[in-house]
Amino acid sequence: MITRRLLIAASAAGIAASVLAAAPSYAQETVKVGLILPMTGPFASTGRQVEAGARTYMAMHGDTVAGKKIELVVRDDAGTADQTRRIAQELIVNDGVSVLGGFGLTPLALSVAPVITQAKVPAVIMAAATASITEQSDYYTRTSFTLPQAAVPVATWATENDIKRVVTLVTDYGPGIDAETWFTKEFTEKGGEIVEAVRVPLQNPDFAPYLQRVRDADPDAIFVFLPSGVGSLFMKQFADRGLADAGIKLIATGDVTDDDILNEMGKPALGTITGQHYSAAHDSPENNAYVDAYKAAYPDMRPNFMSVGGYDGMHLIYAALEKTSGDTSGDALMEAIKGLSWTSPRGPVSIDPETRDIIQNIYMREVKEVDGELYNVEFATYEAVKDPAKASGE
Ligand code: DHB
Repeated sequence: MITRRLLIAASAAGIAASVLAAAPSYAQETVKVGLILPMTGPFASTGRQVEAGARTYMAMHGDTVAGKKIELVVRDDAGTADQTRRIAQELIVNDGVSVLGGFGLTPLALSVAPVITQAKVPAVIMAAATASITEQSDYYTRTSFTLPQAAVPVATWATENDIKRVVTLVTDYGPGIDAETWFTKEFTEKGGEIVEAVRVPLQNPDFAPYLQRVRDADPDAIFVFLPSGVGSLFMKQFADRGLADAGIKLIATGDVTDDDILNEMGKPALGTITGQHYSAAHDSPENNAYVDAYKAAYPDMRPNFMSVGGYDGMHLIYAALEKTSGDTSGDALMEAIKGLSWTSPRGPVSIDPETRDIIQNIYMREVKEVDGELYNVEFATYEAVKDPAKASGE
């Protein structure tokens, strides 16, 4: 503990990292995992879902790994990056966590890069999805997804399904720009035309004025990325402005038809086509067991793609600890995560040893009514998709 405190203090004083790297790691019986999440504020649904997924993993798989007890410490950053960073420092220095996880939005994830690099503490990104985050520190790994990973299959599907002219509409920050860039690249390379590219603010977005412009442009489809939780407002304004009635198809990454809020959206959501890595309706023994355990603990919620990032994030930490026989040093854990593979509730996944990002299936889905509820029903699979932003070296 003192060593860790010194480490942070010394880094502030600018003392050479090489001296600090020699700090021994002490055997401990309890391994603390610190989850930093937006539990309040406009993105609280992300925090709630990631925590529920992580706790469901522990309920299903116990709290002991390699002879050590796992203790989860959950802290609320209220969606503010300076708080994420301060909490990361506190968790490392005061609480002695061995691993950090969570990170509900890209700026929150990015804020801890210098802290984890200096302290050599792994950070498992369970929610944020801008491709470049994992390049900012060797101690990042990711169990969510990247927007290029989801957006490229949606573009491929669109070109194969008679969609020729598209307006893109994305939230104006990292993941939105990734979604716009990679959808556009794939769609135009395959012969499609982008008629207009609209970016909306992250805070308090009002889509109505933009949707009027989209209607006037009269494309075959609108391609949308919005962060988790915002989709219901969008869907309402999309219906109110008569875009569906005008024959404009809605295609999106699965963030828009988030399982957490899909039922609230009601009829206007029916027929929306999305691409993503997780649907609560995914039909597999692993997912059935996950959904049952989740609903037993959280009867008022449905697991969404954020929750499975939390679930698999805990799996990754457990599997890495097993591989290191309980050694919690950051370098040992980061070595251990590279190349790990397992069957997630979302399907088969692995950690790319080069990028530390997750390789996974991206499913094409359509919103349909099943037993009186709305679900993202999968109808096609792009297998073992790597983050294209890195695979191509861009
Ligand atoms: C991010 C946040 C989201 O809610 C989402 O659905 C995708 C990406 C992000 O900030 O990285």
